[in-house]
Amino acid sequence: MKNHSYNDKRPIDMIDRLEKNRDLADDEFISLITDDDPEVMSYLSGKAVDTRRRIYGNDVYIRGLIEFTNYCKNNCKYCGIRRGNKNAERYHLDEDEILSCCDMGYELGFRTFVLQGGEDPYYTDDMIVSIVREIKKRHPDVAVTLSIGEKEIRGEQDDTDSYRRYFEAGADRYLLRHETADEDHYKYLHPDEMSYDHRIDCLKELKDIGYQVGCGMMIGSPGQKPEHLLEDIRLIQELKPEMVGIGPFIPHHDTEYADYPHGSVELTLRMLSIIRLILPDVLLPATTALGTVAFDGRERGILSGANVVMPNLSPSGVRDKYLLYDNKICTGDEAAECIRCLSGRMESIGYRIVVSRGDHVRFV
Ligand code: 5AD
Ligand code: FES
Repeated sequence: MKNHSYNDKRPIDMIDRLEKNRDLADDEFISLITDDDPEVMSYLSGKAVDTRRRIYGNDVYIRGLIEFTNYCKNNCKYCGIRRGNKNAERYHLDEDEILSCCDMGYELGFRTFVLQGGEDPYYTDDMIVSIVREIKKRHPDVAVTLSIGEKEIRGEQDDTDSYRRYFEAGADRYLLRHETADEDHYKYLHPDEMSYDHRIDCLKELKDIGYQVGCGMMIGSPGQKPEHLLEDIRLIQELKPEMVGIGPFIPHHDTEYADYPHGSVELTLRMLSIIRLILPDVLLPATTALGTVAFDGRERGILSGANVVMPNLSPSGVRDKYLLYDNKICTGDEAAECIRCLSGRMESIGYRIVVSRGDHVRFV
């Protein structure tokens, strides 16, 4: 192990304290985030895996991801489906197509469906409500997760409040990555018309309504510094989300970040482990982006404390169009193949995929 100068703050002691207190001082977090010593990383991931095992055992939850539209009114600078990308071939699925994905997914053992899309005004609140209701009617034992971006917050008294309407229709969870908790960095990654404060307000509103909420960030996005990841940690501690989506940034050829390097696998793994130790009961996916930058990325994610994988259930005809970044894996595979492949991958490392809603477990 490297001879660390901060003797009283040896990495192993810090990791032990992080496990015990779920917290560290700012400078300690920074040194852990940046410590690429393989022995330290292995100690950290070992603690994260122990913690995860105490709550969720060796079960890995699957979420059937339905990417139902790649139209987007936003223009995030890193994203391949931003409205400014004139080369993206656009599609949206209608209610029947979405429902058949769910029916097929149900047969395959999925008990959570994630409806993810760009911010697409084509879908009115009535349409989303109808889709959620119909999924719940057909399959009362599934959880529905929405990942459809920011909505106007109208408040408790207003029965046109979108997030409340979806929740009342039966949506259980909502994913809205915060992308970066540093306001200047947020401004750097997004066009002027987007607001960090509004995104955080949305996350708070979703929590208040009663959703299981997921925030999250890319690792190694352009301009990201370790201090930004510290701010992400502080936000996660404050918000206490039920889920955190973390994946490496990957460049997309039609964006201004086309020539930037992708985020580091090791740094992503360290962040997964740290988040597991901060929020022991968090639902933490080993993301497709992680599986894209390393062939065994998802397995390594699970071995660093993750407990969720999200195979793609979108119809094969549209899969290669939902490209947020280049070289995305599984765009040519059928859902059944993906689930077989993932089950094999999980079994090869001693884990098993389970047929379950895989709800968040409150652990005190
Ligand atoms: N690389 C990695 N992740 C990306 N996302 C968007 N673009 C990229 C990219 N180029 C992530 C964002 C978004 C989620 C759906 O996908 O974090 O919230
Ligand atoms: Fe899709 Fe392996 S998970 S082919």
